[in-house]
Amino acid sequence: MPANESTLIASRETLPIRHHRQPLTHASVVTAYQRLAPVYDWMFGACFRAGQRKAVESLASGPGDRILEVGVGTGLALRHWHRESKVTGIDISERMLHRAMKVRHRHGLHNVDLRLMDAQSTGFPDNHFDKVAAMYVVSVVPNPPALLREMRRICKPGGKIAIVNHFAHPNPTVNRMEQRLANYAGLLGFNTALPIDQVTKSEGLRVHRLQPVNWGGYWTLIEAENIK
Ligand SMILES: C[S@@+](CC[C@H](N)C(=O)[O-])C[C@H]1O[C@@H](n2cnc3c(N)ncnc32)[C@H](O)[C@@H]1O
Repeated sequence: MPANESTLIASRETLPIRHHRQPLTHASVVTAYQRLAPVYDWMFGACFRAGQRKAVESLASGPGDRILEVGVGTGLALRHWHRESKVTGIDISERMLHRAMKVRHRHGLHNVDLRLMDAQSTGFPDNHFDKVAAMYVVSVVPNPPALLREMRRICKPGGKIAIVNHFAHPNPTVNRMEQRLANYAGLLGFNTALPIDQVTKSEGLRVHRLQPVNWGGYWTLIEAENIK
């Protein structure tokens, strides 16, 4: 891993995990995204686009690949997958998923299957997918380690995993602000101060590359391999 990427991880590893006043719960996440669904594309579409494109590109989907998109949301990234790969998108918000269904219909994405399902505990068999993507989801679930474990369980050994997310900022001033906001994660629908090592140090994930993405590189694309 290049030196600047190691520094990016190292500088964030020492950040403490805080307990928040309004923590994320399954119910608070569902409520937040049911509310956000009608305005989600308008609020986040442009801002998240580059990271979505890069995450999909990093997984290099091809014909016959079984791909899982966890927290597929309104389906903003669905058009970018290879048309002959078999894409499954799951989400816990019916309204977000409903919008993704419209995208599938509008673009004739017959290779896409969408399901209402909790990504922390799916019904898929072990080693089912070749590649798994989680775009802007790891800081949204109440239990990120459970999400990562489940992604690894259903991804084949040696399979590729792409995660795009904002992680706790290494700059102390920005970090302090993020920690304050993180008290209201339950209201916002995401944790503003998730330490990056919750992913990079996750057991069984071999991180190959970290790449800053989106405006000012405030988000990070993590390209990893599933080690079993
Ligand atoms: C910030 S949005 C990201 C949507 C999409 N990945 C994108 O790039 O625009 C987070 C999504 O994750 C979904 N989500 C949150 N917790 C989830 C869970 N436990 N299982 C499945 N989806 C979940 C939310 O409903 C929401 O649609």
